[in-house]
Amino acid sequence: MKAMKISSKFVLLLLFITSSLLFVSSQTQVRDTDQESFTSIVISQTGLDFIKNLLITKAVSAIIPLQLPKIEKTVKIPFVGNVRMVLSNITIYRIDVLSSYVKPGESGVAIIASGTTCNLSMNWFYEYSTWLVPVDISDKGRASVQVEGMEVGLTLVLENQKGSLKLSLTDCGCYVKDISIKLDGGASWLYQGMVDAFEGQIAAAVENAISKKLKEGISKFDSFLQSLPKEIPVDDHASLNVTFVDNPLLTSSSIGFDINGLFTPRKKASVPNYHYKNLQPSVLCTDQIKMLGISLDAAVLNSASALYYDAEFMQWIVDKVPDQSLLNTAGWRFIIPQLYKKYPNDDMNLNISLSTPPVIRVAEHNIDATVYADLIIDVLEADKVIPVACISLVIHGSGSVKITGNNLGGSVKVSDFTMSLKWSKIGNLHLYLIQPVVWTVIQTVFLPYVNAHLGQGFPLPIIHGFTVQNAEIIFSTSKITVCSDVSYAESQYLNQLLVYLQ
Ligand SMILES: *[C@@H]1O[C@H](CO)[C@@H](O)[C@H](O)[C@H]1NC(C)=O
Ligand SMILES: *[C@@H]1O[C@H](CO)[C@@H](O)[C@H](O)[C@H]1NC(C)=O
Ligand SMILES: *[C@@H]1O[C@H](CO)[C@@H](O)[C@H](O)[C@H]1NC(C)=O
Ligand SMILES: *[C@@H]1O[C@H](CO)[C@@H](O)[C@H](O)[C@H]1NC(C)=O
Repeated sequence: MKAMKISSKFVLLLLFITSSLLFVSSQTQVRDTDQESFTSIVISQTGLDFIKNLLITKAVSAIIPLQLPKIEKTVKIPFVGNVRMVLSNITIYRIDVLSSYVKPGESGVAIIASGTTCNLSMNWFYEYSTWLVPVDISDKGRASVQVEGMEVGLTLVLENQKGSLKLSLTDCGCYVKDISIKLDGGASWLYQGMVDAFEGQIAAAVENAISKKLKEGISKFDSFLQSLPKEIPVDDHASLNVTFVDNPLLTSSSIGFDINGLFTPRKKASVPNYHYKNLQPSVLCTDQIKMLGISLDAAVLNSASALYYDAEFMQWIVDKVPDQSLLNTAGWRFIIPQLYKKYPNDDMNLNISLSTPPVIRVAEHNIDATVYADLIIDVLEADKVIPVACISLVIHGSGSVKITGNNLGGSVKVSDFTMSLKWSKIGNLHLYLIQPVVWTVIQTVFLPYVNAHLGQGFPLPIIHGFTVQNAEIIFSTSKITVCSDVSYAESQYLNQLLVYLQ
């Protein structure tokens, strides 16, 4: 085995990559604060290591087997004459990455894989004619080549391009340190000494082929990132706007992304135009070991509230209750005697509609919601719906949040409610008598309905194939932060990428 000096080019590249990360901090990123962002995602060093390992595994399996171009050479050897040597079918069939690291800095993300080894196989062929023997001499066989101590380094820059992420490669280098070639077959002992002439060429071919593959790979990965949808569908009515706002924010140990994060209607027809105060979100994960932090501003929840309000989701006709006698005027005989007198034994229903979108607040330790609703008492008489009274309700609830799969879901409990009479066609009502009935309706109809929807939750902005694990939820003033690890399972997205790379 013959060791080659570590390429000085590579040392220069390493210096360049490292210095560009350390010293470009003066070129502070200009962050466009006009753009609204209500969700921030921060990938910690642990998360970056996880992604880097995943990408390296994917890249290696996409690269091999890699065929290198044929190498041909004619050398003049004393007493022998011209010897034509051909190396063909040179194939890298195995790559092992010994160690690697990823380091974000202000100007980009450096990924360095060192101590990488490659195994290659190839066919060798020698041909010459000499005055010693009257015929051409040729010989051939197989050879195995081991490349050791290969260093691969790249610097990637992530930028926001019209709301998508653009990935570009600013530096890329691949340097082979040691190479050893072992010939098999034919009179290999005779030619083994001559193969040294090929080391440099094989090393250069490996370097070129790997650099080229990486450049192609990064460009495919860029197309993949740009093809990520800007909206994640939530249901028939809503999607989540996951448009990137600003450039990613790189620190020495994390990458942060700001996305719009608000709910938007799927049908273009009704666009609610609510304005939210933009409180430059930041992520607060106390546990630095967690891979990922996602912070949602309360505005995200309020955008959902506004959207479903607009989608007329928030209106119910209650015609079934656990105690069905409550939906007949006879059941209200003692509560509202005049109702029974005017419409004896008629069926009723309750029309509950929200008068404004529920207001959701996130505080240090909890999340609460205030719901303003109108409850109209309808009497059903011979196919006619006769509204007889309307009660305004203000319901206060407190919520809890949980993670199910990649969804953020929750549930609410009613803490208290107040009621007032808005209008009545049947005279004054004794609200204190009606209160227990309304309480029952809220508990048995309204809450189960709301919780069934909240329970499903809405998707967190996470790429397909990754799943949130060991999530922890932190409340702070006007913000919910999910701190978690992620696991990866094969997904169509990344497999598509793999197909691209091949
Ligand atoms: C080329 O190399 C591959 C893998 O090493 C081997 O399977 C194949 O038989 C070789 N082809 C020729 C023509 O030698
Ligand atoms: C690949 O090369 C390494 C040395 O670099 C050697 O230890 C290993 O056995 C080789 N693997 C195969 C499958 O040939
Ligand atoms: C999504 O967010 C971006 C960035 O804030 C914004 O420009 C765009 O109008 C939003 N799209 C919708 C449909 O609201
Ligand atoms: C329920 O009440 C609202 C007004 O609060 C009204 O617009 C709606 O038509 C009513 N629905 C039914 C089915 O009576």
